[in-house]
Amino acid sequence: MANPLYQKHVISISDFTRAELELIIDTAVMIKTHPRPDLLKHKVVASCFFEASTRTRLSFETAIHRLGGGVIGFSDSGSTSLAKKGETLADSVKIISSYSDAFVMRHPQEGAARLAAEFSSVPVINAGDGSNQHPTQTLLDLFTIYETQGTLQGLTVAFVGDLKYGRTVHSLTQALSLFGCKFYFIAPQALAMPDYLCDELTEKGINFEFRDNMEEVMDELDILYMTRVQKERFDETEYVHVASKYVLTPEVLDGAKDSLKVLHPLPRIDEISAEVDDTPYAYYFEQAENGVYARQALLALVLNENL
Ligand code: CP
Repeated sequence: MANPLYQKHVISISDFTRAELELIIDTAVMIKTHPRPDLLKHKVVASCFFEASTRTRLSFETAIHRLGGGVIGFSDSGSTSLAKKGETLADSVKIISSYSDAFVMRHPQEGAARLAAEFSSVPVINAGDGSNQHPTQTLLDLFTIYETQGTLQGLTVAFVGDLKYGRTVHSLTQALSLFGCKFYFIAPQALAMPDYLCDELTEKGINFEFRDNMEEVMDELDILYMTRVQKERFDETEYVHVASKYVLTPEVLDGAKDSLKVLHPLPRIDEISAEVDDTPYAYYFEQAENGVYARQALLALVLNENL
């Protein structure tokens, strides 16, 4: 099967068509049920994390190993010539891409992945650039939603928490807008969904509403997508006020559909109480595990013309 993702950079979720997203999900389903330890044989993937990560880096590296590939890279850019000797990002990318077949990069600056793609001789995969985009998180979110609901079409999804800085929310709303979903945005005023994204949804004719609390829409939801309030962006008093506004407990889930699933990109702090973990709605740990299958699917498609 020839595929349109072969040798393609993965910078923003909006670079994908609906058909390409469906191809990645179908491939993730295939790899989860029938592991393919040969798909990255003789390939080397660079895994370069200029910013902290647990799930993204380790699931990428697990994905590479399980497909039979090799990994080079770093999880602490402090040991690189970029940090120690003032080498530019552009030169670093040229060098690292000459050693590898694909270049996975997380960076704190918005736009860093697109810049890297200009200088890389191999496909660049954005593993998160500042508060901008986190496309591979969206791929695993889509795969998880499909796995739990049997479809992506026409679902009702609430996004709760930090909708301003939460890059996973930005990417996921853009992707789900290709599938006719309805959105509820539930956030403190200071962390509301950015205007440019709301304008984009309006232009596409997507149905979305703002709400003050989860309880008033709970019985309509297929997916409740919780997010972390980013402590580093507030002073202590303001953080406590904002972060305590939306906390999911089993009581808040009263009246939910049996098929509702609670997702969270993780890490969580206090926004989902530990008691929710024991309810049938919690699916965030399975979601994190699905990062391996979604990233296996993406790497397999980017590095193999035919599967
Ligand atoms: N969800 C996510 O990106 O987690 P990490 O920051 O641990 O990679």
